[in-house]
Amino acid sequence: MSIEVNNLTKIYKQKKHQKKIAVDNISFTIPGGEIVGFIGPNGAGKSTTIKMMTGILTPDNGSISINGMNFKKNRKEIMLKTGVVFGQKSVLCWDIPVIDSLKLFRDMYRVPREVFIENMDAFIAILGLDEFIDQPPRLLSLGQRMKADLAASLIYNPDVLFLDEPTIGIDVLSKERIRHFIKKINEERHTTIILTTHDVSDIESLCEKMIIIDKGALIYDGTLPQLKSDYRTTDLEEIIKKIYLAGEKRYEKIC
Ligand SMILES: Nc1ncnc2c1ncn2[C@@H]1O[C@H](COP(=O)(O)OP(=O)(O)O)[C@@H](O)[C@H]1O
Ligand SMILES: [Mg+2]
Repeated sequence: MSIEVNNLTKIYKQKKHQKKIAVDNISFTIPGGEIVGFIGPNGAGKSTTIKMMTGILTPDNGSISINGMNFKKNRKEIMLKTGVVFGQKSVLCWDIPVIDSLKLFRDMYRVPREVFIENMDAFIAILGLDEFIDQPPRLLSLGQRMKADLAASLIYNPDVLFLDEPTIGIDVLSKERIRHFIKKINEERHTTIILTTHDVSDIESLCEKMIIIDKGALIYDGTLPQLKSDYRTTDLEEIIKKIYLAGEKRYEKIC
């Protein structure tokens, strides 16, 4: 499923009637079946954009089309076909065993029995879900919690998956397992994946396309090889640092 975002804007009302333009008139398209890195420094507006693309927040301006559908007309259909994981916040019930949350998702999304079993087998094999499935999230490590969240967001076979910092604070081995899992899901199911991360190796190993935003504005939209060729280096960390520094300089000039 492809995504088309046009002139998307979100303004938060802050204390003392101050306004914060979190997302400033951005447009981009995400072709179906791709893994796209959605990159930007802290406070750039990534999570706000993802919240609008998943119907959690309503835009102040602009439009979002998911395979031709929009939230006004096709909210339920979009919800059934999209999944989201926030690294900072779990969708699972904190106090009940992970398996019970997964069954709740199964019933909510009317997942056929055989699909549920097939998916659970895959999640156990690739993510090692069986090691902690009977425990509640409050007893899990961050890496285990993330694996459980990934399983919950994929149990109903969504066509689009939004991952907002899924590897934040996670050890290298779990991180690698999660990366491998994301890649496999994309290859086998052709799931469109939008991935937010500060980890350069996440991007290197997963993303074909990159969208970079800074202070709510679109900075780059293109392929990873093109970005490297534009900056005449293969050192992605260096490129990202340059882009963020240029953003800070621009900001200093304005202020
Ligand atoms: N609920 C909110 N109310 C007011 N301002 C917010 C709220 N959420 C985020 N912001 C502000 O909007 C900007 C973008 O935030 P966010 O989308 O979370 O950025 P990112 O995910 O890229 O770090 C930041 O300046 C942040 O402080
Ligand atoms: Mg964020």
